[in-house]
Amino acid sequence: MNKDDFILRAEGVYKSYRMGATEVKVLKGVDLTVKSGEFVAIVGASGSGKSTLLHILGALDSPDKGVVAFDGRDLRRFGGGELNRFRNKMVGFVFQFYHLLDELSVLENVFLPVMVSRSVVGWLFGGRKRARKRAKELLAQLGLGERANHKPYQLSGGERQRVAIGRALMNEPRLLLVDEPTGNLDSATGNGILDVFEELNRAGQTIVMVSHDERIAQRAGRIITLTDGRIKN
Ligand SMILES: Nc1ncnc2c1ncn2[C@@H]1O[C@H](COP(=O)(O)OP(=O)(O)OP(=O)(O)O)[C@@H](O)[C@H]1O
Ligand SMILES: [Mg+2]
Repeated sequence: MNKDDFILRAEGVYKSYRMGATEVKVLKGVDLTVKSGEFVAIVGASGSGKSTLLHILGALDSPDKGVVAFDGRDLRRFGGGELNRFRNKMVGFVFQFYHLLDELSVLENVFLPVMVSRSVVGWLFGGRKRARKRAKELLAQLGLGERANHKPYQLSGGERQRVAIGRALMNEPRLLLVDEPTGNLDSATGNGILDVFEELNRAGQTIVMVSHDERIAQRAGRIITLTDGRIKN
């Protein structure tokens, strides 16, 4: 396989945080590749740098050194507009703490990414209707068809995570990046969320999920381990 055939490739990624006089070296040369259609889990202890790595892979943060390439294109070469497009359209993020907006309804939370990526004019003329339709379909698929007009704070943790998954899928991202999706859920609810990811992956969705929990990672097609700032084996 040519190295440009991977949907995602990280090579020699380094990241440190400076805390006063001390430097915390978190990532020390991470290499990884993900093929289109894969469901990869990255496991590692708490504090091993999983969230740091995920943010770098989704261009929410930049590495001190090293390359991250999407479809063979080095993210460092992306201009500002391209980078925004990448963050908003190419990748979808699911976070441990959902990050939903309590002032908005469930439906509005799901179509928010479309709202921010369109011009006001495009949004008012046509965009809004289509976005609402897609958001409603996603909510129905996620078993939340009856909850569209509720506010996030009226939902359970598992339901909130489903809303967050809907939001991440709204723009049909090529890559779904998932950070500890079941960290705040009981195991039955967590399993339900993992079922959603499995089903998405069966339908072709590429997923990279980080978790400290090896059992959760078992649900992925491939597990890689982050330890001492590098990918083991
Ligand atoms: N903005 C920051 N400033 C300083 N240190 C940070 C910052 N973000 C993360 N760190 C440090 O980097 C290390 C890795 O953090 P990170 O959140 O990536 O770990 P993690 O593997 O996701 O942990 P968890 O499983 O608990 O979520 C930790 O020691 C953390 O304290
Ligand atoms: Mg984390």
